[in-house]
Amino acid sequence: MWRHGDFMTLRFVELNATQKKLLEAAERARETAYCPYSSFHVGAALLAKDGTIHPGSNYENVSYSMTICAERSAIFGASARGYKLFKAVAISVRSGKSDVAEPAAPCGACMQVLSEASFLAGNDIEIISANTKKDRIMVTSIKRLAPVIFDPRSAGIKRKRFTR
Ligand code: THU
Repeated sequence: MWRHGDFMTLRFVELNATQKKLLEAAERARETAYCPYSSFHVGAALLAKDGTIHPGSNYENVSYSMTICAERSAIFGASARGYKLFKAVAISVRSGKSDVAEPAAPCGACMQVLSEASFLAGNDIEIISANTKKDRIMVTSIKRLAPVIFDPRSAGIKRKRFTR
């Protein structure tokens, strides 16, 4: 049974074909990161309900706090291109020229935004987050990581209908 914070740790070979494809898109997106301050390269790839894949990467700023993470970059970019309904997101990390040993969980701000995306989609969003070598891959979902979070429903907002 899944509980709050639960995740599975899998290896790449244990993923299904869709998860593998999404994670490989996240790895390609990771190489577009603009991260001169942290050297922490993050790539994200969203799977939309229609099967299309939407990449994002972190984009830093000299003012540090203006930085946008890969996950939010992917969501905002896809939204601006007309895609708001997502089933899954894959995440891949690298630190400078070094491998990162453990997968990264989305930060609190990205969990908040992923929760909004889950509300809009009317479904949970699977999270597939890999270390650099892809031998430790956290498979979980936004509802498992953030089951209780500020929700549009608390603000009395009704779900808008989008077709994609
Ligand atoms: N970062 C992401 O893009 N996604 C995460 O899930 C964790 C952190 C970025 C933000 C910043 O550019 C760098 O990683 C170091 O925190």
